Amino acid sequence: MQTILITGGAGFIGSHVVRLFVNNYPDCRIVNLDKLTYAGNLENLRDVENAPNYTFEKGDIVDADFIFSLFEKYNFDGVIHLAAESHVDRSIANPMEFINANVIGTVNLLNAAKHFWKDISGKRFYHISTDEVYGSLGADGLFTETTAYDPRSPYSAAKASSDHFVRAWFHTYNLPVVISNCSNNYGPNQFPEKLLPLFINNIVNMKPLPVYGKGENIRDWLYVIDHAKAIDLIYHKGKIGETYNIGGHNEWKNIDLIKVLCKIMDKKLGREPGTSETLISYVKDRAGHDMRYAIDASKIKKELGWVPSLQFEEGLDKTIDWYLANKKWMDNVTSGEYQNYYKDQYENR
Ligand code: NAD
Ligand code: DAU
Repeated sequence: MQTILITGGAGFIGSHVVRLFVNNYPDCRIVNLDKLTYAGNLENLRDVENAPNYTFEKGDIVDADFIFSLFEKYNFDGVIHLAAESHVDRSIANPMEFINANVIGTVNLLNAAKHFWKDISGKRFYHISTDEVYGSLGADGLFTETTAYDPRSPYSAAKASSDHFVRAWFHTYNLPVVISNCSNNYGPNQFPEKLLPLFINNIVNMKPLPVYGKGENIRDWLYVIDHAKAIDLIYHKGKIGETYNIGGHNEWKNIDLIKVLCKIMDKKLGREPGTSETLISYVKDRAGHDMRYAIDASKIKKELGWVPSLQFEEGLDKTIDWYLANKKWMDNVTSGEYQNYYKDQYENR
């Protein structure tokens, strides 16, 4: 029986990846390692927590001794590394946490894999990264796998650094690694500090929608389960030492997306058309706000046959329905500390 370590499996993307692997590979033991920060929530995995091939371990990837003991205990065949601090605004306020979790945490995992994988046959260290490492695009062009790194926020600088370390362990120590860089994910279980779940929750509660700057920044949106499927393919079929870009070919200017969201929400909530748009409030821009991200996903399509399965309209609809049907989840994750974060981030902006 193969044993795969998935880090950050209680978070947004990680929980979808854990579910997919637990369900699709019953002969494979899935160990989910998560520190359960504010962003990690075991409620995201209630439906698989009793599966015979699933184990949860609470722990911190920054703790090198703990990571070594975990490798010793399970003798992992593979690692899918998602654990990270993931929110750009938080990285601006508190960069050190991002350097620790995203850089030191990743190097600890690389070191453990290098130490325990004396025989590398069948082994794989898969590092999940972001398109933000490539920097900011103007009106034209797409990020490809050969675009030069140009990170601009503490978050993206930490992710870029971790990508470099992963490649260094490949070239220097022959560790069998693979990396993917993905665009903005959306879908169920995303913490409501990120644009879509934050705005859905605020619309439900008739709270202001804080649009940074003029709302002209552009993001390329991908449904989270399509990302999880790409991760499955890359883990099993991706070439060692390679990088794959993953994206939705689905660019939206923030303000256009927000207006579409408002219209759909009015309908779903049975409100007068135009009600939600009155909540739009232009606020101070994010420091160093990257203008545009857009991914060229032709390599993963050509080499591994991956394309997104969901049209954006369908994905957005499913996403909104999920948040409306899971009010208890939203209430749980927004209780306690979240209230202080929200005040600092928005009410005092
Ligand atoms: P998330 O913030 O929802 O989840 C991160 C998870 O990692 C949480 O469960 C948290 O508890 C855990 N974690 C954080 N620090 C840890 C530590 N020191 N030790 C152990 N666990 C720790 O993030 P997400 O949006 O699901 O992103 C997952 C990964 O995918 C990240 O590496 C992120 O950079 C990358 N990514 C995200 C997106 C996106 O749009 N969300 C796009 C591309 C890549
Ligand atoms: O591109 C991939 C990245 O996408 C991931 O690596 C990150 O982990 C993930 O958080 C996401 O980063 P963004 O900064 O693009 O996502 P966020 O949801 O924070 O913001 C999306 C856009 O919306 C961005 O241009 C900022 C803007 N925004 C965001 C928030 C939270 C607002 O205008 N108002 C807001 O309140």
